[in-house]
Amino acid sequence: MLFTPTSLKECLQEWEDLEKDYQQVQATNPEDLNAIEEIQGFIKERPSVFFEMESFLPKKNGLYLSLVLGNVNVTLLNKHAKFAYKDEYEKFKLCLTVLLLLSSFTCRFVVSYRAVDAMFNFLLVWYYCTLTIRESILINNGSRIKGWWVAHHYVSTFLSGVMLTWPEGKLYQMFRNQFLTYSIYQSFVQFLQYYYQSGCLYRLRALGERHNMDLTVEGFQSWMWRGLTFLLPFLFFGHFWQLYNGLTLFEMAQLPECKEWQVLMCGSTFLVLFMGNFFTTLGVVYQKYKNNQGKAKSL
Ligand code: COA
Repeated sequence: MLFTPTSLKECLQEWEDLEKDYQQVQATNPEDLNAIEEIQGFIKERPSVFFEMESFLPKKNGLYLSLVLGNVNVTLLNKHAKFAYKDEYEKFKLCLTVLLLLSSFTCRFVVSYRAVDAMFNFLLVWYYCTLTIRESILINNGSRIKGWWVAHHYVSTFLSGVMLTWPEGKLYQMFRNQFLTYSIYQSFVQFLQYYYQSGCLYRLRALGERHNMDLTVEGFQSWMWRGLTFLLPFLFFGHFWQLYNGLTLFEMAQLPECKEWQVLMCGSTFLVLFMGNFFTTLGVVYQKYKNNQGKAKSL
């Protein structure tokens, strides 16, 4: 049978209907019960199989990728190529994190020139733009990155662009050190994230399946929870720092000498970042917790 994304969606719908039908089947005979449970287990696994099949079908590039790359096919054709691309994406983030950490440290403690700050902000703009392109390619290849994390990189590109245009002056200097210290902290959190994300990637690859977690991934689940419990306090601290940056800028906007539009613009952007990051992270943890509970019950 020749699959297309539409026919796969139809198949998925049929399996979901079948799953509902089978949930209503009653049996008293233990043999029938066993057979029904086996079929139900088989049906439950199908959506992840379809999801994987769908990620190998050639897709049309979305608007953003068409605008940036043109009409080039970005679908990677096998699991190995997908893993290699994702791995390279994580390594790219790690290299840039080192560079950004060094740059922000230099601006904060070594040189204090607006031109050098501008170079740092330009590097940020380029970095976040590049991430949006790479993430669009990953999504095209079946990655389940939440929409907010991609949107977060668009918003961060915008924020760094506005910081780049903020002219030297008293208000810029008032916020500069806070921003640079925040940037250093963000790079540090990015290191921890790298450790967690690449750990997930390698462990799941070793298990041979990414989205279908069953009993065989029990060890992975416990590693993931340990990683998350360690990472979350640092992430939340970073989110509240974003809130603090936003509030500081709103306070600065009240000063009579504040003439720059960048103050309010950056303040609002930091608040958007705080809300998006904080609530999405809470949502992700809640979803994982629910999935975990569901699995524990089904044991
Ligand atoms: N950026 C890019 N990709 C991300 C991501 C992020 N922040 N969070 C998750 N993903 C990717 C995962 O790698 C995975 O990709 P895959 O389908 O290709 O394998 C997919 O999205 C699904 O991941 P999920 O299971 O939902 O989450 P996770 O366990 O990988 O990560 C968190 C959960 C909370 C650790 C992660 O989302 C995170 O670090 N969020 C905080 C980001 C943040 O707030 N940054 C600002 C710090 S100040």
